[in-house]
Amino acid sequence: MRAPGIRSLCYAAIFLPNALAAADPASFVNLFVGTTDGGHVFPGVTLPHGMVKVGMDTDSPGNHAGYDANSSFRVTGFSQLHDDGTGGGVPLSHFKIFPSPNCTSFETCDTSLEARKVLRNILPDGSPDDFASPGYWSSNLSTGVRVELTATRRTSLQRHTFPARADGRIPRINVDITNDGQQSSTVPTMTVDPTTGRVVGGAQFQASFGPGRYSVFGCVDFRTEPSTPLAEYGSWLGNTPVRNITNAKQMYRGFGSELGALLAFAPAPGAQATVVLVRTGVSFVSAAQACANAESEIPDFDFDAVSAAARGAWNDVLGRVGVELGSQDDQEDMRALLYSSLYRTHISPGDYTGENPNWNSTEPYYDSFYCNWDTFRTLYPLMAMHDPERFALIVRGMINIQQHEGVFAGWLPECRGATQQQFIQGGSNGDPILSEFFVKYAAHANALNVSSQSLYNALLADAEDLPPDWDLQGREIDAWKKFNYIPQDLVEPGGTPSKVVSRALEYAFDDFTISQVAKLLNKTADGAKYAARAGNFVNNWNPNTTVPGGPASVKGMMQPRLVSGAFNFTDPRHCSVNDPTHATCFLDGSNRDGYYEGSPLSVPPQFVLQDNAKLIQLQGGAQNFIERLDFIIDNGYFDVTDEPGQQIPFMYHYAGRPGLSTQRSRQAIAQFFNTSTNGLPGNDGTGFVIGAMGSYAFFYLAGMYPVPATRQLLLSSPFFPSISFSNPVFNKTTTIKARNFQGNPANGTGGTVFVKSVTIDGKPWKSTCFLEWDVFEKGSTVELELTNDITMSCGQTADALPPSLSTGGFN
Ligand SMILES: *[C@@H]1O[C@H](CO)[C@@H](O)[C@H](O)[C@H]1NC(C)=O
Ligand SMILES: *[C@@H]1O[C@H](CO)[C@@H](O)[C@H](O)[C@H]1NC(C)=O
Ligand SMILES: *[C@@H]1O[C@H](CO)[C@@H](O)[C@H](O)[C@H]1NC(C)=O
Ligand SMILES: *[C@@H]1O[C@H](CO)[C@@H](O)[C@H](O)[C@H]1NC(C)=O
Ligand SMILES: *[C@@H]1O[C@H](CO)[C@@H](O)[C@H](O)[C@H]1NC(C)=O
Ligand SMILES: *[C@@H]1O[C@H](CO)[C@@H](O)[C@H](O)[C@H]1NC(C)=O
Ligand SMILES: *[C@@H]1O[C@H](CO)[C@@H](O)[C@H](O)[C@H]1NC(C)=O
Ligand SMILES: *[C@@H]1O[C@H](CO)[C@@H](O)[C@H](O)[C@H]1NC(C)=O
Ligand SMILES: *[C@@H]1O[C@H](CO)[C@@H](O)[C@H](O)[C@H]1NC(C)=O
Ligand SMILES: *[C@@H]1O[C@H](CO)[C@@H](O)[C@H](O)[C@H]1NC(C)=O
Ligand SMILES: *[C@@H]1O[C@H](CO)[C@@H](O)[C@H](O)[C@H]1NC(C)=O
Ligand SMILES: *[C@@H]1O[C@H](CO)[C@@H](O)[C@H](O)[C@H]1NC(C)=O
Repeated sequence: MRAPGIRSLCYAAIFLPNALAAADPASFVNLFVGTTDGGHVFPGVTLPHGMVKVGMDTDSPGNHAGYDANSSFRVTGFSQLHDDGTGGGVPLSHFKIFPSPNCTSFETCDTSLEARKVLRNILPDGSPDDFASPGYWSSNLSTGVRVELTATRRTSLQRHTFPARADGRIPRINVDITNDGQQSSTVPTMTVDPTTGRVVGGAQFQASFGPGRYSVFGCVDFRTEPSTPLAEYGSWLGNTPVRNITNAKQMYRGFGSELGALLAFAPAPGAQATVVLVRTGVSFVSAAQACANAESEIPDFDFDAVSAAARGAWNDVLGRVGVELGSQDDQEDMRALLYSSLYRTHISPGDYTGENPNWNSTEPYYDSFYCNWDTFRTLYPLMAMHDPERFALIVRGMINIQQHEGVFAGWLPECRGATQQQFIQGGSNGDPILSEFFVKYAAHANALNVSSQSLYNALLADAEDLPPDWDLQGREIDAWKKFNYIPQDLVEPGGTPSKVVSRALEYAFDDFTISQVAKLLNKTADGAKYAARAGNFVNNWNPNTTVPGGPASVKGMMQPRLVSGAFNFTDPRHCSVNDPTHATCFLDGSNRDGYYEGSPLSVPPQFVLQDNAKLIQLQGGAQNFIERLDFIIDNGYFDVTDEPGQQIPFMYHYAGRPGLSTQRSRQAIAQFFNTSTNGLPGNDGTGFVIGAMGSYAFFYLAGMYPVPATRQLLLSSPFFPSISFSNPVFNKTTTIKARNFQGNPANGTGGTVFVKSVTIDGKPWKSTCFLEWDVFEKGSTVELELTNDITMSCGQTADALPPSLSTGGFN
């Protein structure tokens, strides 16, 4: 069953023979993983890639998704829009609905954010009485009211159950118009219908990670069960509710004013509880559209049907991955971690189709990318494996933004949120996302309505055209073309001269991904041109730089260069945990660091995926490369919470030592990931950025690591005896089996987990280090023979190593 408002996907209905798929994989998802200690995880209700994400907000300081599983924090309301795991300011959190059962009269009801907030019921173990499962949320507040939540794409439905009371206090619901996560509202509008209680409102708010402002509108309707009349209505300003005021204009004072509506309902007769259903349609276009969304998506207030449809949508997408469990104790836990991680990868970006206020188009509109920098490495490669139709819609949405946002045409989105451009963290990382799609689905692009020509034009805009502000879109491209690096002392209008080394390395990778598309389009000259630009990362390599106190083998670093061509020295410990000056290299306009969320030591493995053979050569051979990776990881230069570092544990593959990658990646899982509420690393706010950590953990558990925009996946061993992927576009299921699976060492060290040999559909495969995408196109059975010998190589032949540009790979 589908909820009204789910975008129908053309391939979704076909039967996929996946023998390992469970009937109700949603039951494996633990939504509370990462909801304390700044994991910033959103545990509320959304459809896969839904726009509305309805959830509890608490007064936990700086929890960007609103919710905190620490029961000492108080509930401020249940709002309709959230992001998941972001940095920046607290995004969205619009139109908090709050039940007030204890007011003695309308006029004495606490309405302001600070005055109204209440604790949840606290269970004997100290945790709050909250429950969450895909498509459903419930919570018992200390006031006795139970709140349940569900959603369609653009509308939420809340069920507030008020117990019967003998003291005459009646159910009241507060609708908060102005308090977004940053309390940034201006120009609020609100009307209250005195007959139905309908509240229609909106305001302008500050984007959370960029300079723009946006408008958003809500349309709130009520239904009581059993049906009882509206008893009182009015508006409030701060902590002062005034009865019978139906238009906010009569109350609003100016910036900083908190404003909303207060409704009261006659209680159900006798000892019955009063159920108040609260339906909130949301729109970024207009108040009228918010109401239309609500009326079309949830016409009949049927909470259970909406919730069942949402769960069905989740099972549809989660069920494309199946696992077989071994007999070991950890297997159910690992399955929970796997599916919880997979769930996280389908929260953002959100399908805002029909909600773009900036231009009209019949193409899909996706938003909340926040940021491509975080997600291009693993989220989209995972989407490519099991959800290509969604991937195609997102790609079309990104191309549409590129085509419309600018005087003639613009640039691909990078960190878009709430319909606004937000800050770029490095390169133009829409490029690897579009390229990932095209490298894997070129043959299906037409069928998926993705125009190859438009896709390529969008990539060329990033690669060739200087944007007006490269802090928001595109790249500092003229400098890149002129110098083949980004000079540290070049001051140009149009952007900040910061993170010059990180950006150059990313530009090089972005160009690599464009060369991959050019080659597929038979644009041979372009392919060669961008592949050459992909090699420009060497221009920041100073062969003489060493780490103070470091081993002799760790020599040569990525260093900033000046217009003159000379190198400028940056201590290789800069911005690492070992930095004597404690610099951080986070985003900051005044920051002139050459690096972004990385140190000179960590950036080469972070950003150079296209040519590790060249890095090995620059570092003086495979042994030095291994020693450097060991040095990076063992001395805290690898930060598992920081997306660019995700690939570091897998890079031993390129030195022909896949066993070391297997062990390092398994140690990362053992050390940093579990299904507790604090089971996600990242209490510094960089944690679980919209699915980036989820897709990362997923790949490690599946025993793979993707190389974006290529047809290769680095191979390790799965945490299960077998794992399968169904692909609705190929109509194929691929299964990876670990023969003689003997379980996962609890600390990630040792074990019979190293890949000794590989067969594909019964035939020996040349490498234990990577798989080709063909395997997933054809629906193959891949069988891994495992050993406890960590010293296994990639294979006997030169082409057993994963490809690198400088050794002729990717052609
Ligand atoms: C919950 O938060 C409070 C206030 O910040 C803190 O003192 C307490 O240690 C936290 N409890 C847990 C279990 O983390
Ligand atoms: C809340 O209370 C209801 C009983 O009123 C109970 O069924 C439910 O399990 C409690 N917990 C949650 C999280 O809903
Ligand atoms: C609200 O009223 C209920 C029932 O009388 C009571 O148990 C609860 O403590 C009250 N809560 C607050 C926050 O006043
Ligand atoms: C509000 O309006 C109702 C009916 O329109 C009226 O009976 C009531 O007296 C009014 N209350 C106040 C406080 O103005
Ligand atoms: C989109 O089309 C509608 C209906 O024609 C029009 O009212 C609206 O202004 C257009 N929006 C934009 C951003 O052009
Ligand atoms: C592609 O577009 C055509 C025409 O608009 C439509 O009929 C078809 O369903 C679309 N296919 C996909 C996969 O979106
Ligand atoms: C060289 O690097 C230092 C330290 O990062 C910086 O302060 C200085 O401005 C840089 N020199 C130039 C010419 O950019
Ligand atoms: C590129 O050339 C190959 C070989 O001639 C051909 O099979 C393929 O269809 C061409 N692709 C495009 C997009 O023209
Ligand atoms: C590195 O050191 C060698 C030997 O001293 C020197 O010839 C070379 O110019 C230096 N390279 C750089 C980039 O400083
Ligand atoms: C879960 O992981 C976190 C760190 O990511 C760690 O602090 C915590 O101790 C782990 N819990 C368990 C039960 O392993
Ligand atoms: C998908 O494959 C199955 C068998 O593997 C087949 O029965 C079914 O018809 C195929 N569906 C499509 C749309 O090709
Ligand atoms: C990992 O666990 C194994 C088996 O329990 C033990 O022998 C080994 O010492 C542990 N290694 C580390 C690094 O903790």
